[in-house]
Amino acid sequence: MIELRTQGDRQHNIIAPSLLAANFANLQAEMEWFNRSEADWLHLDVMDGVFVPNISFGFPVLEYVAKMTTKPLDVHLMIVQPEKFIPQVRDLGAAIMNVHQEACIHLHRTIQQIHEAGMRAAVTLNPATPVSTLEEIICDVDVVMLMTVNPGFGAQKFIEHSLDKVRRLRQLISQTGSKALIEVDGGVNRTTAPLLRDAGVDAYVAGSALYGKPDPVSEVHELKCLVR
Ligand code: DX5
Ligand code: ZN
Repeated sequence: MIELRTQGDRQHNIIAPSLLAANFANLQAEMEWFNRSEADWLHLDVMDGVFVPNISFGFPVLEYVAKMTTKPLDVHLMIVQPEKFIPQVRDLGAAIMNVHQEACIHLHRTIQQIHEAGMRAAVTLNPATPVSTLEEIICDVDVVMLMTVNPGFGAQKFIEHSLDKVRRLRQLISQTGSKALIEVDGGVNRTTAPLLRDAGVDAYVAGSALYGKPDPVSEVHELKCLVR
């Protein structure tokens, strides 16, 4: 399993570009800048049209992309019954398997199974799901990801209330001694990233703030500096 926490007690400035915003007609070029940049993880959004009102890409694309980088893959499953796919996500070589709290009836078991498969377990909360739903498992997870938009689409407006939610999650983590990193997904850009940093975030997913920009490599650098 990869080491996620490398700065002791200090907050991290992990940048995870979200491939959802890429130009799929030229994945080769998108992966080329990603590999050359200071980006830390590659965030991969899988949607099933059931858990979220959209469909993105599946294993044929993931397998292709996985071969094109040595950086850790953060696989965000916006699907029902994500536990069914633990072996397939492991076979991709994913470092982090990211499941929604709302999609897992037996979340504790799913986290155990992700660990047994040799991956880090990330649990994601939709905007309407309270932080308190994680109280019983906070010490078992490696990453808690807060959706800062409603999942399903890129380039949506950041939900301001998320800043309070990050603070409450940070409090829960320090009270319990959990080692979980805090990740955020949705509407992360040069304006929201510093606010999220001050609230206590460690890892930043960014799609439309990076892809399609004239120089994504320097956009990553800029974001990374802003949240240092
Ligand atoms: C949304 C996805 C996000 C999305 C973020 O459901 O989980 O990862 O790509 O896109 P931006 O950064 O454009 O809000
Ligand atoms: Zn995502």
